[in-house]
Amino acid sequence: MTPPRGRFISLEGGEGVGKTTQLAALALALRDRGIDLVTTREPGGSEGAEAIRALLLSGEEGRWSPRAEALLFAAARADHVEKTILPALEAGKWILADRFLDSSLAYQGGGAGLGSDPVRALHAFGSEDFLPDRTLVLLLGEREGISRADERDRGSSDRIGRRGSAFHLDVDRAFRQLGSIEPERVRLVDASGDRDAVTARLLRQLCDLL
Ligand code: TYD
Repeated sequence: MTPPRGRFISLEGGEGVGKTTQLAALALALRDRGIDLVTTREPGGSEGAEAIRALLLSGEEGRWSPRAEALLFAAARADHVEKTILPALEAGKWILADRFLDSSLAYQGGGAGLGSDPVRALHAFGSEDFLPDRTLVLLLGEREGISRADERDRGSSDRIGRRGSAFHLDVDRAFRQLGSIEPERVRLVDASGDRDAVTARLLRQLCDLL
């Protein structure tokens, strides 16, 4: 008997919202419920996509034009979907992805100003419009988010994370818009306060899938 198809969840958010911590906590909570879960990340998550990740995240700020960058993210995603995500879902596993299409919509579409239509067109071609069952977007108030991201930038960050606060404000706005455009799939989750409280908020947005 073939197992039922698993669920595909993506976790999103701008810089400094605590996404890494919440990804680990959410994975633990889902596994505690007996779910056979695979965690993965973008850009990356398959051999080819990890090679593209190195191209995307290292080097000079101006290494890629916004269009070239959007194409590289879409190419990495196409490989990730084909090689990692679809096989796991077909085997009945759940996938929890650290970023997916909505990051391209927010960073390349919003932050870099390409708009969402070209990004969606690349996704239609590269990944045949394949979408998560649910996308959880961690959000902080604008001021809190920027100051946390500034703290992080003083340490080390990647080519894209290092962009200035105007870019990250546009990213944040684009994520918020996605929540109103696709309210069934994209759920905006308050990332402020206690770590466990944030994890509980995330889980609440998955309860109809559990
Ligand atoms: P990463 O080191 O994974 O950072 P984070 O902890 O913020 O997820 O770097 C990924 C960077 O790439 C991050 O700045 C967001 C950016 N990005 C895009 O611009 N577009 C995309 O489609 C994806 C998946 C990521």
